[in-house]
Amino acid sequence: MNEDITTQRISEEDIQRQLRFCGEIRTLCQGRPEGPPLACVQTYGCQQNVADSQRIMGMLRDMGCAFTQDPYEADVVVLNTCAIRENAEKKVFGAVGQLVHAKEKNPDLLLCVCGCMAQQASVADKIKHSYRHVDLVFGPQALWKFPELLYETWRSKKRIFSIADERGAIAEGLPVVRESGIKAWVSIMYGCNNFCSYCIVPYVRGRERSRKVEDILAEVRSLAEAGYKEITLLGQNVNSYGKDLDKPMDFADLLQEIDKIPGDYLIRFMTSHPKDAGQKLFETMAACTHTARQLHLPVQSGSSRVLKAMNRGYTREQYLEKVRLARAAMPDLVLTSDIIIGFPGESEEEAMETVSLIEEVRYDALFTFIYSPRPGTPAAKLPDPVSRAEKQVWFDKLLDSQNRISGELHRAYTGRTVQVLVDGESGDATWPLSSRTHGGRLVHLKGDRALIGRYAQVRITGSNTWALFGEVL
Ligand code: SAH
Ligand code: SF4
Ligand code: F3S
Repeated sequence: MNEDITTQRISEEDIQRQLRFCGEIRTLCQGRPEGPPLACVQTYGCQQNVADSQRIMGMLRDMGCAFTQDPYEADVVVLNTCAIRENAEKKVFGAVGQLVHAKEKNPDLLLCVCGCMAQQASVADKIKHSYRHVDLVFGPQALWKFPELLYETWRSKKRIFSIADERGAIAEGLPVVRESGIKAWVSIMYGCNNFCSYCIVPYVRGRERSRKVEDILAEVRSLAEAGYKEITLLGQNVNSYGKDLDKPMDFADLLQEIDKIPGDYLIRFMTSHPKDAGQKLFETMAACTHTARQLHLPVQSGSSRVLKAMNRGYTREQYLEKVRLARAAMPDLVLTSDIIIGFPGESEEEAMETVSLIEEVRYDALFTFIYSPRPGTPAAKLPDPVSRAEKQVWFDKLLDSQNRISGELHRAYTGRTVQVLVDGESGDATWPLSSRTHGGRLVHLKGDRALIGRYAQVRITGSNTWALFGEVL
């Protein structure tokens, strides 16, 4: 194994020490006349953050906390933040600003800001000076130390900032609170080494590091045994899984190992980087009985020149070839992607190459973004002469195309019978249930609440751009 990529693993002793801090806080709060302390955890950003918040909630539960959605009645508020685009950051600063009122109402409130934004020195600095009601700031790298950090903040009544720029480590054995008994997130790796020129993630999430196969298998096994039906494996680039492990193992091998675990569950995963996804992965997906026929394969741009400037590591043609291979292995594959419009220096012609690519691929759905400069990334230093208004015109063209394609693909489902997992209530009176097909398409359903958490055969009766509608057979 290469010395340079040795992954630091937090020792069991260090984790036990953190759990002792949880116990200490629990003991100190026991018998409070006002009842157990209330914690409010608010999450921004991607599934990785959702998974991290579930660990934070696990630790808070071990501290004896109960949970509330209302920061005004909470004793501890944790904002788990996202730095991916400027808008995401603005939203968080707005929320942090608002919380000054909660702190005025309850001066003992402990206000914590964590996650990707917190890892940036400039953000921590801004919080230090302009948001003085924030008590604790820590980055994703320090997540496992949350009990100790919270304890210190509480007991010392001092503000604590734990945002040292670390490579990151792997911490096993942290408690977790999952949102439902149906769907679960399982991080298989952390960090990113790709340094796409527009992206902040490698700077805030540290170096790529993989959990051990046996730890992942044990977690999936226990979820399958507990009756979870949909398990999503998480990583910024799952295709580089295993590069830092003692025993050679790649992501396709991991899927195969997981597939041997008995149970009535489906495996999804995100995200696959096109440069590392290939025939072995597609064939393995096709052969595994538990793996969903669903692939999120972010292309970002349809122009080879822009892809190079983005440091993506593939050309338009190479990407299209991967799509062809994936569909050859899995004709029923549901394919989705991410797109950035208006990368610095992108011309209208190049943006239209992206539109032509999506016309060619015909994705089931897209996540589309207008480029947002992230300070500290190489792209933020490039000249960016095109106005926001012009980028918006290109963006709207892209959306028009995709909406038409999604609508057409969805209409083709009408009259078909498909199996879905009913995963919750939709909040709509006519279509009260929400569900997902094997490929991950959203289906609003008529049917009984008792179906939640179960598979059902449904007939698709209608659709729109975003979803299908159906009736349980
Ligand atoms: N690791 C994943 C994506 C993580 S971020 C991958 O490589 O695909 C999710 C998406 O946000 C990216 O795919 C990209 O489309 C978008 N994104 C990232 N940085 C951005 C930026 N600076 N401006 C606009 N969109 C961005
Ligand atoms: Fe960002 Fe690229 Fe890493 Fe995805 S692969 S997280 S876009 S740097
Ligand atoms: Fe945002 Fe961090 Fe995810 S920047 S998108 S929460 S990895």
